Amino acid sequence: MATRLARPYTVSPDSEGGFAQCLRANRLARGLSLAQLAKKVRVSKGYLSRLERQKARPSVRLIKRIAKTLRVDSSSLLLRAGYLPGEMREILHGYPLEAHAVLRETFGEYTGEHGEMQEENANDRGSARSCPTPASLADWEALYETVFGDCFEWLGQREPNSIHAVVTDPPYGLKEYTPVEKEKLRNGQGGVWRIPPSFDGCKRRPLPRFTVLTDADRSALADFFLSWARKVLRVLVPGGHVFIATNPLVSHVVYVALVEAGFEKRGEIMRLVQTLRGGDRPKNAHNEFDQVTVMPRSCFEPWGLFRKPCEGRVQDNLRKWKTGGLRRISREQPFFDVIRSAPTRPNERQIAPHPSLKPQGFMRRIVRAALPLGEGIVLDPFMGGGSTIAAACALAYRSIGIESDVEFYDMAVRAIPALAGLIPNWSRASGRQQAQSDAQQGLLLERPSRT
Ligand SMILES: C[S@@+](CC[C@H](N)C(=O)[O-])C[C@H]1O[C@@H](n2cnc3c(N)ncnc32)[C@H](O)[C@@H]1O
Repeated sequence: MATRLARPYTVSPDSEGGFAQCLRANRLARGLSLAQLAKKVRVSKGYLSRLERQKARPSVRLIKRIAKTLRVDSSSLLLRAGYLPGEMREILHGYPLEAHAVLRETFGEYTGEHGEMQEENANDRGSARSCPTPASLADWEALYETVFGDCFEWLGQREPNSIHAVVTDPPYGLKEYTPVEKEKLRNGQGGVWRIPPSFDGCKRRPLPRFTVLTDADRSALADFFLSWARKVLRVLVPGGHVFIATNPLVSHVVYVALVEAGFEKRGEIMRLVQTLRGGDRPKNAHNEFDQVTVMPRSCFEPWGLFRKPCEGRVQDNLRKWKTGGLRRISREQPFFDVIRSAPTRPNERQIAPHPSLKPQGFMRRIVRAALPLGEGIVLDPFMGGGSTIAAACALAYRSIGIESDVEFYDMAVRAIPALAGLIPNWSRASGRQQAQSDAQQGLLLERPSRT
């Protein structure tokens, strides 16, 4: 049972300026001046400016007001200011095995004397850091580029062999991001977007319905991915990987097209996540067939993993192009193809209310793996709300995102700095229930100490 801690926060200095950077980035992302934010959080403009220059230390209450006003996760801001919430301390103490494994898996090895997460290679400039702390916002922005436009056009004009990895979640249904269907989604009127009924007064998120695809839709999907994959193959360097989100109903169409275009299939990443898809009894015959499920309740999201063929051996390719393999979690641990992941959290959805937004916790793991030496450029040609680009930023990787819908493009531009500044909430993914189910599936090395 959780005990209430006498001291809710452990305090350490904000020596890296993480809070100050994050405050400024999020204030600017929301289009607020110093004076406007100061008024909203009830401090003077001068004091706020001192906070942004690391000349003052904010109180816990002020940080919570700032987090509420800027709609960012207060735990993340508190951590950046050097406050370790008691709840997190409890997780670290209560689940040392899982907490450590999850953090290391995502951010690299913990070897620093002063508590920082360090990469396996100390000389590695592209190292994955838990919080990006660039010298200024401009440095951070220099890491990525966003393009408003059609990715097919962009790919056609891009220099060959100039992208090192693609991490993307395309519009597989093709239909769901057409203007007609987007209009229906924005008006809450269904179409290919299934609007689930609201329960207990809670409105549920719309999900695209892939079961409504006809044979003609599937054939158009195959053509779409073949033409897309050919263009991607040209711009990727040899040995460059593609991580492509899909779903169990259409993955075969997407995979065949990529192989036909010239990619090697290198595996699949299983994102373990409970969706609302499947698991229903036959429509209008629930009682008659109460022991039947029409389709399995989906508990994973497959991500296809492909590679442009290497030039020679992997080691030669790594030397010449910096690609060919995947980045290890640590010296001891390779990258694994099963990743536990909670659905995207409400605070991420508030920052980027895109209907298909992927969670930072998961995106950072796969984006990190995509550049084996941490060098090069990651491309997301279907950027949506910007989750790939934000993940790349958080890892201090260079990236390019392309989005053809003006509303989603503007959303991504606003959201990327705020998403990149978040610290993923592991408490759900490494909670007791999850840990037990992982232990049953053989995903944990040991059973959790608390049962
Ligand atoms: C499934 S969503 C991506 C969501 C994204 N992974 C995220 O986390 O927000 C696909 C996106 O691709 C965009 N899109 C569709 N066709 C496109 C094209 N030809 N070029 C660029 N973007 C496109 C859609 O507008 C949509 O926002």
